[in-house]
Amino acid sequence: MGKDSVQVGLLGLGTVGTGVMQILQMNGKQISSRAGIDIVVKKILVRDKQKFRAVKVDPSLLTTEAAEILEDPEIDVVIELIGGLDVRWYVEEALKRGKFIITANKDLMATAGAALLRLARDNGRNIYYEASVGGGIPLIRPLKHSLGANKIVRIVGIINGTTNYILTRMDLAHLEFAEALREAQAKGFAEQDPSNDLEGRDAAYKLCILANLAFNSNLHCDSVYVEGISNLQQRDIIYARELGFTIKLLAIGEELPEGLALRVHPALVPLTHPLAGVLFENNALYVEGNAIGEVMFYGPGAGAMPTGSSVVADLIEVVRNINHQVENGIMEISFQDKNVVPPYELASAFYLRMQAKDQPGVFAGLANAFSEEMVSLDMIIQKRSSEGKAEIVLVTHAAKEKKFNAALAKIHKFAGIMAINSVYRVIPK
Ligand code: NAP
Ligand code: HSE
Repeated sequence: MGKDSVQVGLLGLGTVGTGVMQILQMNGKQISSRAGIDIVVKKILVRDKQKFRAVKVDPSLLTTEAAEILEDPEIDVVIELIGGLDVRWYVEEALKRGKFIITANKDLMATAGAALLRLARDNGRNIYYEASVGGGIPLIRPLKHSLGANKIVRIVGIINGTTNYILTRMDLAHLEFAEALREAQAKGFAEQDPSNDLEGRDAAYKLCILANLAFNSNLHCDSVYVEGISNLQQRDIIYARELGFTIKLLAIGEELPEGLALRVHPALVPLTHPLAGVLFENNALYVEGNAIGEVMFYGPGAGAMPTGSSVVADLIEVVRNINHQVENGIMEISFQDKNVVPPYELASAFYLRMQAKDQPGVFAGLANAFSEEMVSLDMIIQKRSSEGKAEIVLVTHAAKEKKFNAALAKIHKFAGIMAINSVYRVIPK
């Protein structure tokens, strides 16, 4: 006789876990009808059973013992919403005990996804991780299935809600960095360790996951070149806007003839570019495929309910699989190792802000350094000087990064330049 319900164990009842429980309570009937069978959350692992919860749950569901979920043969699905890498053991143990996994954990999927998916296959199970990238935006399923006919050549996105929220508030409300970060944390967007967001590691993990799906590759997330936004100054946002740009933390993956190029870094984005209009915690991903052309996915990239929406969508799929015994293939197993192109071999335009002595020959010295390295200048502005110091802002045309860096090294040694304050890549208008 078949089952009359599928039993679920939840690991974590924080921001996302709360969203999942709220969605199950709000739309439970429709969700069970779509899944074809009732879904019952049997146990929820937390650290502190007495803590106030933003969602009402029967206190008897809460446990501080992982074994009550992992060792319960009636639980078919484990939803991991604790985060971090220490949960790997829980996921492995659950798979070995024949449970399906749903996770929102990009750190885990980016660093151990390949091994975990292999373990899932060996145990006839699967791991669903739609919520690990882009919060509520469907990205994993489109890359795996809907765009499967394409050779993907490029993906470009804003895939960290916390930093996009901070940059938006700094740009539009002129908030200082620390205040904007506090707001993002209060809204539940930030990671337990917010330096993962600020230093670009969260976006790098997500890019790694997306790129492996887009390019059928097996790259380790160390292959992603990463720069964060923690040194970004209000001044650069103001100057960027004067030049017709805003500053965004971009994640870019490209398949070039020489190999894959994967990078996360802040960049000046023209105000007319669709990514410039992606504000607050929203995320967006451009995908360029050789059949579809360009397609963009946009929506809330973090937060309880949007992320919960992706988790519960995975849950419906898992439960349908269990209920209907649908084929459960893991296509990621066939992905291949590919060459990685280092950033200095790539080309980009650059924005540069520096402090110079207000004296003859400074512009000429700069122009020489760039022309010796064949880097052409697009814009150069000297801000009004004070106390013998001038602030110079310039934007180059696209050049190989190693040529730009060679020019920069010459500028560093040039006596007329007192300090190089900021260097950012620029997306062409
Ligand atoms: P969170 O608010 O910090 O919640 C973590 C939950 O895990 C809490 O309920 C906590 O218990 C529990 N927990 C932590 N350590 C534990 C341990 N050692 N044993 C038992 N329970 C433990 O985290 P979150 O923001 O929901 O994030 C969860 C996952 O979703 C992470 O992988 C994150 O990267 C990912 N994610 C988050 C968002 C977002 O917008 N927040 C979006 C997409 C993906 P207590 O409640 O008792 O402290
Ligand atoms: N900290 C992440 C972000 C949560 O801000 O995008 C969503 O993955």
